[in-house]
Amino acid sequence: MKLIHCKDYQEMSKKAAEIFAAQVILKPDCVLGLATGSTPVGTYEHLIEWYKAGILDFSQVKTVNLDEYVGLDETSDQSYRYFMNHNLFDHINIDKANTNVPNGKAPDIAAETDRYEALIKSLGGIDVQLLGIGNNGHIAFNEPHDAFDGRTHEVQLTESTIQANARFFASMDDVPKRAVSMGIGTIMQARKIVLIANGPKKADIIYETCFGPITPNVPASALQLHPDVTIIVDEDAYAAVAAKCGK
Ligand code: F6R
Repeated sequence: MKLIHCKDYQEMSKKAAEIFAAQVILKPDCVLGLATGSTPVGTYEHLIEWYKAGILDFSQVKTVNLDEYVGLDETSDQSYRYFMNHNLFDHINIDKANTNVPNGKAPDIAAETDRYEALIKSLGGIDVQLLGIGNNGHIAFNEPHDAFDGRTHEVQLTESTIQANARFFASMDDVPKRAVSMGIGTIMQARKIVLIANGPKKADIIYETCFGPITPNVPASALQLHPDVTIIVDEDAYAAVAAKCGK
């Protein structure tokens, strides 16, 4: 595990974007694993900027996203597909047919999880996977649990997640209660993993992820077992490591 600490969000975003840019340059038909949330927005902004500057060509790139809410598709501005289109895909020369997000509107969600897992395999696996992290150590929708979730699966959202999401929807009935998520096993099969985190709320969990016990109570701690993980954090998210490890 390599831990890089940056002075701020901008520097963190640029470092992560550089790794993804290098991947696209070295292997133009690579498979990028992508994430949603507030953390990767700056990374995507850099990739868009370098595409516009003529440095990056996404015409052969394929992407797979970590997760999607059940019941939502791109027509909902809360869907992860909508997020990806608006924050990245609409601004670069990627073929949308090569971009993959689990289908939250699939009639048979169990079949959709199998399809998604098979799709990743058929693409030859993920070259580099971008991850954010929840304050409780979740990666994708893999919440703290008594066992690591292996493959792409359906997740029942916790009451606290449903409550936290309620502000984005017109009524409680509209708030998604379920999601489709890559499992920890799926993520661990990526050839390279880049996890980004910023802000003081992520400090304790970054320490736990890097130096705590490997436990499904901290899903991201599984990354300690992966041979090629780079964790990039800003100064705030590095604070607990600096305090406990003396730098
Ligand atoms: C997003 C995802 C989530 C987020 C995590 C952090 O696709 O799978 O695990 O990475 O919740 O979210 P932010 O970046 O908003 O702090």
